[in-house]
Amino acid sequence: MSRLIVVSNRVSAPTDPSAGSAGGLAMALSAALRKYDGLWFGWSGNTTPVWKPEAQIEDRAGVTVALVDLEPQDVDEYYNGYANKTLWPLFHHRVDLSAYERSFGEGYERTNDRFAEALAPLIQPDDLIWIHDYHMIPLARDLRRRGIKNRIGFFLHTPWPVRQLLVTLPYHRRLVESLFDFDLLGFHTREWLDLFRDYVASEPGIHGRLLPNDALMAFGKTVQTGVFPIGIDVDAFVEARNSALGIRTYDRMAASAAFRSMIVGVDRLDYSKGLEQRLLGYEQFLKDKPEQRGKVFLLQVTPLSRDDVDAYQDIRSRLDSLAGHVNGTYGDVDWQPVRYLNRTYRRDQLAGIYRAARVGLVTPLRDGMNLVAKEYVAAQDPEDPGVLILSRFAGAAEEMTEALLINPFSREEISDALSRALAMPLAERKDRWQALMQVVRDSDVALWRDMFVATLQAIPTGGAKPV
Ligand code: G6P
Repeated sequence: MSRLIVVSNRVSAPTDPSAGSAGGLAMALSAALRKYDGLWFGWSGNTTPVWKPEAQIEDRAGVTVALVDLEPQDVDEYYNGYANKTLWPLFHHRVDLSAYERSFGEGYERTNDRFAEALAPLIQPDDLIWIHDYHMIPLARDLRRRGIKNRIGFFLHTPWPVRQLLVTLPYHRRLVESLFDFDLLGFHTREWLDLFRDYVASEPGIHGRLLPNDALMAFGKTVQTGVFPIGIDVDAFVEARNSALGIRTYDRMAASAAFRSMIVGVDRLDYSKGLEQRLLGYEQFLKDKPEQRGKVFLLQVTPLSRDDVDAYQDIRSRLDSLAGHVNGTYGDVDWQPVRYLNRTYRRDQLAGIYRAARVGLVTPLRDGMNLVAKEYVAAQDPEDPGVLILSRFAGAAEEMTEALLINPFSREEISDALSRALAMPLAERKDRWQALMQVVRDSDVALWRDMFVATLQAIPTGGAKPV
């Protein structure tokens, strides 16, 4: 078996895997790297006054990580700029927030070229290279230019945008062309892949063709594509729920709920997560169902994210004010309708929190997959499971059809779904949960990883593939 090289902007290999703070993806990739004796390459998260192309190699709990520092200008233009102010909003259909600044594009290209410069010397001829996410789209091209012929796969953790919006990006062709230097492109859902295919088939001048078995041809090259829906580490999550801390957290939640029904939301603080719409939908529910006041509460766990970017500061202050508004308007001396927390919890604590919640409320406006939906399901008590309300615009909705699927732009739909979920009889809750749990098991993160790696490995030759 070849070595595996994982590449991502953020290297999340845990220093102490037993600490329970690492996500399922980080754990699954780390396990593969231990098994296949590979390495995880990416940004250290630190800056340096002058770029140095030698990666610092460290061992993190048996996983070799290779990290590079970036110059402050790279962080501004590549990470805060092109990745988080241009591509992220565009891929989430927020062209109103997308900044098309030439310096960002230049910084993105320069930084990817620097990554290639530092990574190329670490690559051995048989290695499989797996690059993750929108930060690193040009990286295969930059490695190919340095003579790297290995098989290189790419996985996009976000949605792919519709062609009519993608073409608002200056140099969109150049970005898409660089994807054709990979051997395999993976997407979470058929919908995202179809949007990518639509661009390739319809964009004038690139000579795109749809080939059998989801292969594509354009720019004089071919690439294999596929749908690989990511999941969670199901056993680890169930174990976390049953762990001492998971049970303690559940007991603590149950005691503090004092027989009120808890609705839970857990999301990075991001405008794509539909958090304002969620609070407005919950407010609508409190208006529509006055008899429910004092009987429910919404626990919204929202760790801060990307706070150097204006749009994230704006959404933060809007949420502060909205949570305060709902509490101020509807609360009582002994009842707070919203518990809004900007902090993180360990996996075992989260599992206890999810288990204590009668409803999981997941309302992104657009989301690559959304693993909170799967975690919520995995943490439920099979004998008395809660109800998942899920946005139809999350990638997860393609598989999780037994959730209550809603349009998060409609407060009424959120409000109606909350009423329905809170009144749902046990038999229906169990039926829906069993179907959802099967989906969660079938998309386990280890299966996802192994499927992608096996597909990449099976591609006949690496390197540029002119037709
Ligand atoms: C999303 C992206 C990831 C990213 C994560 C956290 O899930 O798909 O690539 O790592 O958000 O964002 P951050 O900017 O903090 O890495």
